[in-house]
Amino acid sequence: MRRTADTAAGQRRGEPLPHDLLDDAERLTREGLRELQLDRLRRSLRHAYDNVKTYRKKFDQAGVTPDDCRTLADLSRFPFTTKADLRDTYPFGMFAVPMDQVRRVHASSGTTGRPTVVGYTENDLSMWADLVARSIRAAGGRPGHKVHNSYGYGLFTGGLGAHYGAERAGCTVIPASGGMTARQVQIMQDFQPEIIMVTPSYMLTLLDEFERQGVEPRSTSLKVGIFGAEPWTEEMRREIEERMDLHAVDIYGLSEVIGPGVAQECVETKDGLHVWEDHFYPEVVDPLTGEVLPDGEEGELVFTSLTKEALPVVRYRTRDLTRLLPGTARPAFRRIEKITGRCDDMIILRGVNVFPSQIEEIVLRTPGVAPHFQIELSRRDRMDHMTVRVETRPGTPAGLRDAAARAIAKGVKDGVGVTVDVSIVEPETLERSLGKLRRVKDLRGER
Ligand code: DLL
Repeated sequence: MRRTADTAAGQRRGEPLPHDLLDDAERLTREGLRELQLDRLRRSLRHAYDNVKTYRKKFDQAGVTPDDCRTLADLSRFPFTTKADLRDTYPFGMFAVPMDQVRRVHASSGTTGRPTVVGYTENDLSMWADLVARSIRAAGGRPGHKVHNSYGYGLFTGGLGAHYGAERAGCTVIPASGGMTARQVQIMQDFQPEIIMVTPSYMLTLLDEFERQGVEPRSTSLKVGIFGAEPWTEEMRREIEERMDLHAVDIYGLSEVIGPGVAQECVETKDGLHVWEDHFYPEVVDPLTGEVLPDGEEGELVFTSLTKEALPVVRYRTRDLTRLLPGTARPAFRRIEKITGRCDDMIILRGVNVFPSQIEEIVLRTPGVAPHFQIELSRRDRMDHMTVRVETRPGTPAGLRDAAARAIAKGVKDGVGVTVDVSIVEPETLERSLGKLRRVKDLRGER
C-alpha cells in the first residue's frame, strides 16, 4: 500500500501543520517577516562592517555604509561575497568574533585549492539546530521519531548539522554517518527508524544493499527521507518513493551560509523548498551581470545572513541556479524551486549547455536501466565528446539494453540538443556514492 495520503505524522496530504507545532517565526505574516528581516539585516551589515576587514574594504570600495540600508531593496547596493573571499582569508580571516567565542568550525572540501572554513558561536549553533528541527517537522518528523542519520560526520556540515537538529526536534538520533553500508542496513532493520537523512545518491546505494540482503525495501520502517547536499530530480524522487514506499523531501543548505537547513520542502506539498528567511535573506541575480532578478525568474541564488555571529555573510554567491516563488505551506516564507544545477556544473558541449540533471531525468524514465549513471567528457578530433554510461538492471535481455541505449541517446538529442554516446554497462560496475556523488568524469585535460 502506498503512503501517498498521509505523512509520517498521520497528517493528510495538503493539510497544514497543527498550529502548536509551528515555531513563532513560522506564524508571522509576510509583512511581519519583512519587518523582522529589515531590522536584522541592518544589524548584520553593521556587525560585518565593524568586525571583518574584508567587508569594511569591500563596502568602502563600493561607497556604501551599513546605514545606507534603509529598505530590503537597498541590499542590492552592497557588494557580493564569493568563495574566493573566504579562500583568500583562510582559515579564520572572515570571522567576526574573537576565537574564544567560536565553539565549532566546519570546512567544505573544495574541489581545488584550499577548503573554505566556517565558524559558529554558541548562538549560531543553537539557531542552526532550531532551523534543522523546523525542517524535520516540515518533512513530517515528530518528537519520538527515530532518525537514521547517514550524512557524513566530520568537517562536512551534513552529519553534525542533521544530528543536533534532530535532537532539538525531540527525535532519537542514530548517528550512522556514511559508509559501512551493509551494517547500516542491518541497523535500520534492528532499530526501526521512521526517518532517514542522507544524500539521494547514497540512498540508492543503501537501497541496492537492502535488496542484496534480501530485504524488501518497501517493507522497512522508514516513512520519510530527507534528502539533500546534491542535486536530485523529480524522477529520482519518484524512483525512491516507489521503491521504498516513503515520502522523499528535499533539504538544502551550504556551509558558508550555515549548513543543512537553509531551506526545506514541506511534506504536505512537495512543491519546492521554503527558505528560512527569518535568518537568511535570499536574492536571485543574473549570474553574468549580478543584476537582481524579480521573483519568478531563474538565476543564481545569493544569501545574506541576518543573525549569524561568527561568520556573517553578505550577498554570498552560491553558484546554485533556481527561482524564488511565493510561499505555500508556510505562506510568509518564499520558496526556491528544486535546485537542479550550479553555474559550475554546467557542461558546454559543442556550444550547448548541458546539466547532469537533464541526463538524470532521461535515464530515470528509460525502462531496463538502473538509476546509476556517469557522464564522461573526452576530446575526439579536437571536439568535446560526451559518453553516458548507464547500468542495466539485472536480468535485462540484450535487446532491451540496446533499445534503452537508443532511447537515452534520442532523449538527449531531442530534449537537450546534443549527440552523445550511450554505453550500457553491467549491474554494479559504476562507482557508488558514499556521500556526495561526483557524476562527471572530465578527461578533456588528459592527452
Ligand atoms: O551540502 C550542506 C547540506 C548537508 C545540505 C546535508 C543538505 C543536506 P556544502 O558541502 O557546503 O553543504 O555544499 C553546498 O551543495 O551550494 C549546492 O550546490 C549543493 N546542495 C546542497 N543541498 C542541495 C539540494 C551542504 N537539496 C552545495 N539540492 C550547495 C541541490 C544541493 N543541491
